[in-house]
Amino acid sequence: MNFKDLSTKRYSVRSYSGEPVTEEQLQYILECARLAPSAVNLQPWKFYVMTSQQDRELLQQCYKRDWLSQAPLYILLTVQHDVEWVRRDGKRHGDIDIAIAAEHICLAAAEQGLGSCWVCNFDAQLCHQLLNLPETEEPVVLIPIGKPAAGLEPTEKKRKELSEIVIRR
Ligand SMILES: Cc1cc2nc3c(=O)[nH]c(=O)nc-3n(C[C@H](O)[C@H](O)[C@H](O)COP(=O)(O)O)c2cc1C
Repeated sequence: MNFKDLSTKRYSVRSYSGEPVTEEQLQYILECARLAPSAVNLQPWKFYVMTSQQDRELLQQCYKRDWLSQAPLYILLTVQHDVEWVRRDGKRHGDIDIAIAAEHICLAAAEQGLGSCWVCNFDAQLCHQLLNLPETEEPVVLIPIGKPAAGLEPTEKKRKELSEIVIRR
């Protein structure tokens, strides 16, 4: 599968079959996340892998959607604010680093026929509290992963045309 095919294949999966993700698949996905680039190579991230019913229920409290409980596995990405690169003008780069690692996860999952969904609209404060995270860590993206329920793939990618977004100078 070439990169364009993989980019097309990945979509936000909000319905899962419930089949477990194998340890091999999980390790592959995590290795792809580990290889992601980051500013000054500081790798200011932690990947929390949540598979137990108890941990999954904690995260379900932070993002109350019925479909979330169908996924057998969640990866929560946190940024380490004491590690991330901060540019001279004060711009923090941890969120950018996390976003790259998150998309590596989603693409690696798609490559293996697994579905995933970026979730940022969760209660990050509650999540921080329920997981008892260190003060310097902030939860940024929650990614459910699992086999997609059959027959729900979107038929088209709704995206702006290149002519609307590319400025050639
Ligand atoms: C930064 C970011 C945050 C997102 N947060 C959520 C979310 O909280 N809940 C959700 O269902 N989808 C979320 N999404 C998924 C987007 O809605 C989705 O990627 C977009 O509509 C394009 O659809 P596609 O992923 O199927 O190609 C998020 C995506 C990104 C990149």
